[in-house]
Order: sequence, then C-alpha cells, then structure tokens
Amino acid sequence: MKPMISASMMCAELNRLSETIDAFEKSGVDYLHIDVMDGSFVPNFALGTDYARRLRKLSTIPLDIHLMVDRPETKIAWFEPRGGDMVSVHYESTPHVRRSLATVKNTGAKAAVALNPATHYRAVEYVLDDIDAVLIMTVDPGYAGQKLIEPALKKIAALREWLDSGGYERIEIEVDGNVSAINAARMREAGANIFVAGSSGVFLPDTGVADAMKKFKEAVA
Ligand code: DX5
Ligand code: ZN
Repeated sequence: MKPMISASMMCAELNRLSETIDAFEKSGVDYLHIDVMDGSFVPNFALGTDYARRLRKLSTIPLDIHLMVDRPETKIAWFEPRGGDMVSVHYESTPHVRRSLATVKNTGAKAAVALNPATHYRAVEYVLDDIDAVLIMTVDPGYAGQKLIEPALKKIAALREWLDSGGYERIEIEVDGNVSAINAARMREAGANIFVAGSSGVFLPDTGVADAMKKFKEAVA
C-alpha cells in the first residue's frame, strides 16, 4: 500500500504557516491532519471549524480531520468534509460509531475509526464494510510531543494481518503519535501506510519542514 503523509497542523508554527504549506505542496504531503479536541473526550483543546475553513483557502491538500470529541456524529457536518478528505471518529467517543461513519460517508469523505491505545483492534469487526481506514493511536490522544507506546507496534502488525486474512486488504492503517522518521519506518514494517507527522516527524526544532519531509519520505518509502 502506498505510503502517505498527513502533516499534523497543531504542531505547525503560526508565524510560518504559508511557507510551511508551500513546502508541503511542493514535497507532496497527502493530507493536512487537523486535531480537533473538545476538552472532554481528551484533556485538551485544539483546532476547530474556522481553522479548517481557513486552511482550505490556503491549500488544496485534502484534510484529515481527527475528531477527538464526544458524540462526533453531531459535529461532523460542522467541518464540511468533502471527497478526498479523511474523517476519523473515535470508537470510544460514542455509542453510535456506525451512525458516525455513515454520516462521514454521506459527505463523500473517507471514513476511519480511531482506536485509543487500550482498545482492541477487533472493535472494528462489525464496521469493516463501513470504513476506509483504521487510525491506530500510538500515544494517548490529547497532546503532541509524547513518547511512543511500544505495544502499539504489535497491534498494527496484528491488525494488518487480520484485515488481509479477512479480505480487507483495501483498508488502510493510519498511525498517530510520536511518528518520527525512525518510528515511522518501524510502523511501516508493521503494516501502517498513513503517517501523521507532527512535532517528532516534520516539525522539528533544528530542521526546516522541506528537509524534514525529505528524510521522512525516505524513511517510509
Ligand atoms: C496526538 C495528536 C498528534 C500529534 C502527533 O493526540 O493527535 O497529531 O500532533 O505528533 P507528535 O506526537 O510527533 O508530536
Ligand atoms: Zn491526530
């Protein structure tokens, strides 16, 4: 499966936003990852609807909207998802996972179920026909800059094998949390193909995003 990069915009420097997006367009970033946090499902607040709307004016790169919010089914439409976008809803965030996924699919966007580190991958068993991807959290959701939870690597490998053996080779595996170039290579090896690159991936302290992108792409090639 083709490796894809989703740049985590909550980690982008605001004073360099337009040159950063320029670099992403030139280096072929596949998605702009929008972390939406509601201070309830996760202990933090992050990006929202107006930010997403403004990004769309700056760039044609599809959005990868990661909803870390309670009851996402009532909030999906606020982000005006469209064909080419990806929208992830957390399995743990609603009793209406299937309804949430159907709401996403009705917009034309791709739908993913996001799983917290403690959630078994088999939680997606009865919605496999409703999803395009599974987003495996490789840290506890809520903050950038955390350390990889190692058992997540086993989970990625087990999920990939389970999907392939069940005839679901088309379902993609996205990974989010401490996806550095080094960790991304290990996640790729385990079977992930969409990489959320944040403060450890492409927004590095001493390297510009263009150079960081080059190294990151080589790591997951
Ligand atoms: C974690 C966020 C991530 C984060 C990843 O909840 O969803 O998008 O920005 O970047 P790192 O872990 O490398 O800072
Ligand atoms: Zn995220």
